[in-house]
Amino acid sequence: MSKNHQKVVLVGDGAVGSSYAYAMVQQGLAEELAIVDIVKKRTEGDALDLEDATVFTAPKQIYSADYDTCKDADLVVITAGAPQKPGETRLQLVDKNLKIMKSVVEPIVKSGFNGIFLIAANPVDILTYAVQKLSGFPKNKVIGSGTSLDSSRLRIALAKLFHVDPRDVAANIVAEHGDSEFAAYSTATIGGKPLLDIAKENNVSMDQLLKIEDDVRNKAYEIINRKGATYYGVATCLMRISRAILRDEHAVLPVGAPMNGEYGINDLYIGTPAVVSANGIDKVIELPLDDREKKAMDASAAALEKVAKDGMA
Ligand code: LAC
Repeated sequence: MSKNHQKVVLVGDGAVGSSYAYAMVQQGLAEELAIVDIVKKRTEGDALDLEDATVFTAPKQIYSADYDTCKDADLVVITAGAPQKPGETRLQLVDKNLKIMKSVVEPIVKSGFNGIFLIAANPVDILTYAVQKLSGFPKNKVIGSGTSLDSSRLRIALAKLFHVDPRDVAANIVAEHGDSEFAAYSTATIGGKPLLDIAKENNVSMDQLLKIEDDVRNKAYEIINRKGATYYGVATCLMRISRAILRDEHAVLPVGAPMNGEYGINDLYIGTPAVVSANGIDKVIELPLDDREKKAMDASAAALEKVAKDGMA
């Protein structure tokens, strides 16, 4: 990955993809942004529109392209896929979005792409697993958005409860980015102090914390029921993960990471903190889990395992 000229390819220019492209322009990340989608008018229009913003941010070549543009890309971000409809679970999208993913990965790999994959289509843990299997790329070079968005939602909810800046709440949602996700409260801290101790001091019960966990788990449904889709939150998470890769930050972020025995899980992608750099995932950080969390992790892995294996059968 050259330091002075970086290229990102966005595959999928829907609401999430377009918001991601806008976030990348706003942040001045990457000198080149190619946009691939089956609807060429959309990618051409977005490229023309986005370049107008670069006068106020940073010079960037932005253009509509086909898959062969992936050849010299540092990072390919895949958002292509059908979004959830009101009341639809992410796992219910698996059949249609696996088909789309298969049609996307093949031409990317054929282009000679040799960078990092970042996936955000749902069910993201399954589709990240599928991209790794279909591409044959090393597991650490295929990253999912995982529970990055969920963890942001948790940090915001806890920050409101304890009246602190969400950036100072260290808390993770882990496991599936979906209905079986859970909050790893036993390792959450604010200012280095265990969150559970702070909760006790403030007479905040475990039931209240579990209600927050449930609200976070269901926040996407609340947004979709009101505006039809979610995109700004996940697009900004994708930008944050992209920045860790492009700037070789070795940042610790809750992403969709490959399991090689962590949490007793193998051959699956789940959301967990990991060290993210120009090499992709340097290291998975396996959180210590209490009994409640261990049970939730086992249940989430079982739910994902079944769908992943069936889907790739
Ligand atoms: C959400 C989508 C990105 O959680 O799954 O908003």
